[in-house]
Amino acid sequence: MLTNIEEIYRDALSELQNAGTLDDVEAFSVKYLGRKGLVTLYLRGLSALPPDERPLAGKRSNEVKIALEEAVAKIRTEMEAKAEGADEGIDVTLPGRMAAAGRLHPLTQITLEICGIFTKLGFSIVEGPEIESDYYNFEALNIPKHHPARDMQDTFYISESTVLRTHTSPTQPRVMEKQAPPVRIIAPGKVYRCDSDITHTPMFHQVEGLLVDENVSFGDLKGILTTFVHQMFDAETSLRFRPSFFPFTEPSAEVDIRCVICRGKGCRVCSQTGWLEVLGAGMVHPAVFENVGYDTKKYTGFAFGMGVERITMLKYGIDDIRKYFENDFRFLRQF
Ligand code: FA5
Repeated sequence: MLTNIEEIYRDALSELQNAGTLDDVEAFSVKYLGRKGLVTLYLRGLSALPPDERPLAGKRSNEVKIALEEAVAKIRTEMEAKAEGADEGIDVTLPGRMAAAGRLHPLTQITLEICGIFTKLGFSIVEGPEIESDYYNFEALNIPKHHPARDMQDTFYISESTVLRTHTSPTQPRVMEKQAPPVRIIAPGKVYRCDSDITHTPMFHQVEGLLVDENVSFGDLKGILTTFVHQMFDAETSLRFRPSFFPFTEPSAEVDIRCVICRGKGCRVCSQTGWLEVLGAGMVHPAVFENVGYDTKKYTGFAFGMGVERITMLKYGIDDIRKYFENDFRFLRQF
């Protein structure tokens, strides 16, 4: 008799494993646990056993009954949960899941626009390293060691001879060392300085420009930069050249654009001046040409370095440079 319940149990378990639908589980339940089910009938028949076998057979039969009831309940719950999930999958009334679409950061958009304008003017795009040697960042640009000009830019030093580049100008000697004139390049990229307020950030972006050929004049520099500003903004946008100093250009200038935020009236972005400085420029200093082996009697050239954050501020009327780097979607989504 005891062997018999074990056989029923074994058959039941393998049958339950093959149950594929809720109907199969119901049929199983009736077959084994229903009023006329095999386990139920077996339990009823226990009274026919000799009295000394009854306790053990009764205990085991109840264990089997409970185990099968639990197995049925478990598989039923699993199947019901699966069926609910499947229903959800085909509920056509639910709104679809939007695929998150990325977009270019405003600074990337403006960098591409700047590159596009200069490419049309015949410039090709080059890149230089952000971790730069002291030589290219300073010395090759006529800023020798201990020159006070190094104080103009608060530098992040990696070692005594390696820095995070403080401007994109090191691309100038890097390109000229490899290429004979004529040269007509722009070099976009990140630069680093210990600087932070509403118009300065410790990491920012510049686009360097360099044009070297015979008979290049300051007039060419003014022409190219005026064309650039008029294409970037509009033909009405005023710009002005202010005399300035850079050790690697002579003469040097800084270029300001009429502040589009206050339209020249004066605001906190332009420090109440009505103008915002966007770039430094000048005629390449003969010492820089000598460092790269260019003939200073034959060639002249101009260079400029513009701040992408400043140009983007003017283009979109952004009043705080730090907004670019806060990763606030409400801000970034507008571009
Ligand atoms: C330079 O970096 C020179 N290398 C530019 C140059 C190139 C001059 C070639 C001559 C020939 P300056 O430090 O002025 O110059 O920076 C150039 C531009 O970068 C500035 O006009 C400004 O628009 C931007 N800029 C400078 N510092 C910051 C800063 N901390 N945060 C954001 N933009 C900045």
